[in-house]
Order: sequence, then C-alpha cells, then structure tokens
Amino acid sequence: MDQPNARQGLLNRRFLLTAGVLLSAVAWAGCGGEYPQSALHPRSDFADRLDVLFRQIFWWAMGVFVVVEAAILYTIFRWRDRPGRDRPKEVHGHILMEVGWTLAPALILVAIAIPTIRTIFIVDRPTTDPNALVIEVTGHQWWWEFEYPEMDIVTANEIHIPLGRTIDLRLRSADVMHSFWVPRLGGKRDLVPGRETQLWFTADSVGVYWGQCAEFCGTSHALMGMRVIVDTPEDFAAWAAVNAGDAVQITDAQARAGRGVFGANACVSCHRVGGTPAEGQFGPDLTHFGSRLTIGAGILDNNFENLVRWIDSTQHVKPGNLMPEVYLSADQVAQLAAYLLALR
Ligand code: CUA
Repeated sequence: MDQPNARQGLLNRRFLLTAGVLLSAVAWAGCGGEYPQSALHPRSDFADRLDVLFRQIFWWAMGVFVVVEAAILYTIFRWRDRPGRDRPKEVHGHILMEVGWTLAPALILVAIAIPTIRTIFIVDRPTTDPNALVIEVTGHQWWWEFEYPEMDIVTANEIHIPLGRTIDLRLRSADVMHSFWVPRLGGKRDLVPGRETQLWFTADSVGVYWGQCAEFCGTSHALMGMRVIVDTPEDFAAWAAVNAGDAVQITDAQARAGRGVFGANACVSCHRVGGTPAEGQFGPDLTHFGSRLTIGAGILDNNFENLVRWIDSTQHVKPGNLMPEVYLSADQVAQLAAYLLALR
C-alpha cells in the first residue's frame, strides 16, 4: 500500500523542483538586457534618491521574506504529520512571542517611513538653485511641447539639457492630465489642467534617456513618448545656438519642392517653421525638425522611410492622433519628407 504513495511523493517533489527552477530562470531572465526605461539605473540626483529608498525598502522586504519563509518551512517539517504521531501542542498567549511579532513589524515600518517621508519632502519642494535652467513643459494629446524661456527655444518631444546643471521643469497641460516620466532622471510628475507643477533634477551622465507619459490621457497615451538628451555643456551650447535661430535656408531642389507642398497644404495651419510664413501653433514646432531623433513623440526613428510612412498614413502609425490625413501624391510626400529632414 505504501509504494504508490512514495512514488507519488517523489513525482510531486520532482514537479516542484522543475517548476521552481523554471520560475527562477524566468525571473532572472527579466533582470538581463538593456531597458531604456528602467528606473534601476539612475542617472541624476533625483533618481538616485528614489533608487536609494527603493533599495532600502527592498532589503527590509527581503529580510521579512526570509524570516517568515524560514519559520513556515521549519514549522512544516518540524511538526508534519507522521504515522502514530499525536497532534502537536498548541501555544496560546505566549507573551514574549505576542509582543515580539507585534513590535517587530511596527519597528520595521518606522524604519521605512522615516527615509520615505524625508525623501518625499526633498523631491517635492521646488529647487532653490538660482542657476537652474528653466524649461516649460506642456503636455498635449499626444505629444510634448518644450520651451526654454531664457533662450527663446521651442521644441517638441525631445529636450537637450546640459550635464551637471539643475533643470527646473515647469509643467502644464493644454488639455487633459498627463504625467512626465523619464525613469532614469526623475520621478513622475502630473501635468494638471489649470495649474503648474514642478520637477527638478541634475543629470550626471551624458546620454539619451527615454521618457513616457505615465497618466492615461486618451487613445494614443501609450504612444506619447519623449527623449531627454544630456549633452556636455559645450555640446548643449552648440545645440542651443542652432535651435534658437530660424529655419535654415533650403538649397536642395527636392526639399524646396517640399517647402512648396508644405505651404500649400493644411500643414501650415498647425505647425510653425521659424522664419517662414508657417506660424501654426496647434501642432509641434518644426523649425529644427530634421535634427530630432524621433517622429510622432518618440515612436519612430527620424529617417526618410519612417517620415514618409508618418505623413502618408499617420492615423495608422499613431491611431487617434490629431494630425489629419493629408491626401498627397507619392512624389509630394517624398518632397515633404525631404523638406522636413532638411530643417536642421
Ligand atoms: Cu499623455 Cu498619457
């Protein structure tokens, strides 16, 4: 009678072991690879503070997990049922144990609460750095507008910032609630219609950082991305000098034809190209569009093929976006793409 039970037990144990190995393999696989939106690789003072707090809480949680699991496993094996064994004696009202397991969690919560509250106060108050670079951020369905008031620069979906200087973001919304989130540089901050919020950070490494709207804001919320490019101070100054100016002169024939297409169609009523008659305010400013890394708020690399796709079937690429389909010939679309890429 015993034998089938023993075999069943062995099979169960093998199953558990295999399942355990598979599960931990899946869990470890999740830790590898390059994730541009992982908050676990902070690159600013603000993100560092959040990361330190997260790691502290993580290790407290690990400690609790190990202690509780160890107690459960010990109990299971120590007092498991065996043929001929009596029920183990139950313990009631053991004062030391009762006090211990009431007090220990309370103390752990206090140890977590103190650094948490301190961090909240630090990251929540506006920056006091008088040299901070102010950037005004406006959230739109479904793109980002960035203005540098002291430099007379307006751009969209990408900001360049200098390494080592405090960035003071003033956040507003043009329509519904959005949330500014560049995981490696800072925490989330909501953009609330009718009021201004603030967020500051100082980047400590040159690079391109991915961001994402983190508040559901309609159809294309998931496609409301952005890039923050951290430059050396010299590179930033060079970028700012170019971007503060009007659009470059267009010399290429194809691009000049595209400028004609742009001016003769609905494009001009929504988009601005500095130094030209295009003065639209509704869509992203395109004055230096050709120098941007992405199209459509961080969703496609900025190159000729993608731009043709974007102009030709924008509703397919980014469903619900507020740019209407324009009906142009393939030649006109190619000319338009050449023009936009020439705007550097
Ligand atoms: Cu904007 Cu979600």
